[in-house]
Amino acid sequence: MLFFNRPRKDQPTDFSKVGLDMHSHLIPGVDDGAKDIADSILLINGLKNLGFEHLITTPHTLQDIHPNTQKTLGKGHLLLEGKLPEGLTFRLSSEYYLDEQFQGQLEAGAVMPLPGNRLLVEFSQITKPYDLEERFFDLSLKGYQPILAHPERYLFFHRHFEYYKRIKDMGVELQVNALSLTDHYGKSIRKIAEKLIEKDMIDFIGTDTHHLKHIETLAQVPQNKFFVRLLDSGLLKNQELM
Ligand SMILES: [Fe+2]
Repeated sequence: MLFFNRPRKDQPTDFSKVGLDMHSHLIPGVDDGAKDIADSILLINGLKNLGFEHLITTPHTLQDIHPNTQKTLGKGHLLLEGKLPEGLTFRLSSEYYLDEQFQGQLEAGAVMPLPGNRLLVEFSQITKPYDLEERFFDLSLKGYQPILAHPERYLFFHRHFEYYKRIKDMGVELQVNALSLTDHYGKSIRKIAEKLIEKDMIDFIGTDTHHLKHIETLAQVPQNKFFVRLLDSGLLKNQELM
C-alpha cells in the first residue's frame, strides 16, 4: 500500500503560519510593482487572502531606474490610507539596491529600515559587486543588519555555494522568495532555493509580489514540501518583524 503521497494532516493551506510578508512592491506607481491605487488594493487583498495579516512593503530604491526616496515612497504609502482591508497592518520599508544613491541615503540617515534596524538589500543578478563583503561590513559598522533579498537569484553564486555560508558567517540574513519554490524563475533558481532551505540557511521568506500573476502562483507554495520544511525548521524570523 502506498501511503507516502498522502498530504500531512497539518499540511498548511496558506501563509497564515508565516503571518508577515516583508518583501513586496505594493506602493502605486513608484517602481515595477503596483501600477495605480486600484492595482495596489487588488494585490494587498490577494496577499490577505493568502493568509498574511501583516505586510511590510518594500518598493525598489534603485538610482538608475526607480530613484525613490523616503519622500516619494511615503507619499505613495499615504495614498492607500483608509483603503486597506480590515485587520491588516501595512507598513513601509524599501528594497535597496547597493548603489551610490543608497550610499548617500545611508550616510544622510535617510533610509527606512525594517524592525531591528534591518535593511533589505539587492544588487546585480549578473555581476557580483567586487566589494560586496566590504559593503556588508560597512552596513554592520553603521549599526544596520543586512538582509540579502532572494539569494537564490544571483546566478554567479550558483557555482560557489560556499559563498552563501561566507556571507551568513559575516552576519548577513538571507531571504528566500516564496516564488522560487515553484518554477516561476526557472529550475536552477528553484534548486538553489531548495538547497538553502535544506542546509538551514534561510532566515526570512518573502513573496516579492509585483503583480497579480505572482499572487496566483503563490497559491501553490503552501503545498510545497520545502515550504513546510522551512516552517518546521523553527528558523524563520518573519514574526520578529511584527
Ligand atoms: Fe523585490
